[in-house]
Amino acid sequence: MSKALRAAVIGLGWAGGVHVKVLSSLDGVDLVAVADTDPERRVAFDGLRTAADVGELVRIGVDYCVVATPTTEHERISLELAAAGVHALIEKPLASTSAEATRLAEAFDRAGLVAAVGHTERRNAAVQELGARLRNGDYGSVYQVATRRNSPYPARIRDVGVVTDVAIHDVDLATWLTGRHITSVAAQVVHVTGGPHEDLATAVLRLGDDVIADIQVSRVSPSKERIVIVHTAMGCVTADALSRTITYHAHGEIDGDAAASGSLSDVPGRRTTYEVPYAEPFRVQHEAFRDALLGLPNDIVTLRQGVAAVEATEAILTAARTGTSVTFAHAVTSR
Ligand SMILES: NC(=O)c1ccc[n+]([C@@H]2O[C@H](COP(=O)([O-])OP(=O)(O)OC[C@H]3O[C@@H](n4cnc5c(N)ncnc54)[C@H](O)[C@@H]3O)[C@@H](O)[C@H]2O)c1
Repeated sequence: MSKALRAAVIGLGWAGGVHVKVLSSLDGVDLVAVADTDPERRVAFDGLRTAADVGELVRIGVDYCVVATPTTEHERISLELAAAGVHALIEKPLASTSAEATRLAEAFDRAGLVAAVGHTERRNAAVQELGARLRNGDYGSVYQVATRRNSPYPARIRDVGVVTDVAIHDVDLATWLTGRHITSVAAQVVHVTGGPHEDLATAVLRLGDDVIADIQVSRVSPSKERIVIVHTAMGCVTADALSRTITYHAHGEIDGDAAASGSLSDVPGRRTTYEVPYAEPFRVQHEAFRDALLGLPNDIVTLRQGVAAVEATEAILTAARTGTSVTFAHAVTSR
């Protein structure tokens, strides 16, 4: 049997804690070390080798490292990993600017290392089911994707705003679910907490020539909501990522005259709801990354896809600031 892969996690906050938990029981992987600048955070992971920074961590000797530090630290830490020949799973957003994200993609490409971005919302069981069914053509052509992602204020995320931190999930989902690139972006944002970054945003995207997406995010909501609604030729399908349910509401039958005129029926159609079995999204993501390191088939989110998502969130912020649409001369796609 081949030797277990030696893994590490840098950044031991909320996300790092989940990564440590999953890696502690992942087949084929030994979690050997953790790192954080905060000594109190390191103490919490008794029994593992600990380091105060990425240099110390690299000297312990690891095959790959999860980067779960604040977003503004991703580039510096990940470039050190690439220079040391360490593969990396980097939390979303890949970086706080597209220039930083692009430098990261180039560095890992040049080094011939495996690297991926932690776009875990793709791994939610209901979202996975929705993606598989759309790709299978179960609901016909996609017309529109509408997302709502609302949460109470996360005191720990201060380095970026809700667009860079949260809407990044939805631009990734919109391109991944539709298989189309983003061609233009319009947006508005609101600041409510007095900080330098926006707290609510609404963005309208065009994907390819024929699909639109509307993304609504808030980090000052009293409750949590994670909804993806897809309007298609055959009806409307909703994935609720929190309850892990899929609800499909089919169009009613089209009568002869309406069919001839090409219009849709106003007769209510069949509605079905079902729950998708739970699968821990971080575990699914880690299994894919391990398989990529072992040269097995996998569906990791590549750094190029991570760059595309950051370019899209940057475009949202530019569109909101300038009050004009941002049009892309090149494809921004996440599939
Ligand atoms: N995939 C997801 O669903 C998901 C969910 C939450 C957070 N995240 C991402 O994970 C990252 C971390 O977010 P969080 O919520 O865990 O933040 P957090 O504040 O809870 O934790 C960050 C940790 O990094 C440590 N740290 C800061 N600078 C460091 C450095 N230079 N070297 C080593 N350690 C350092 C801090 O001491 C802290 O323990 C962010 O990029 C965030 O966007 C992803």
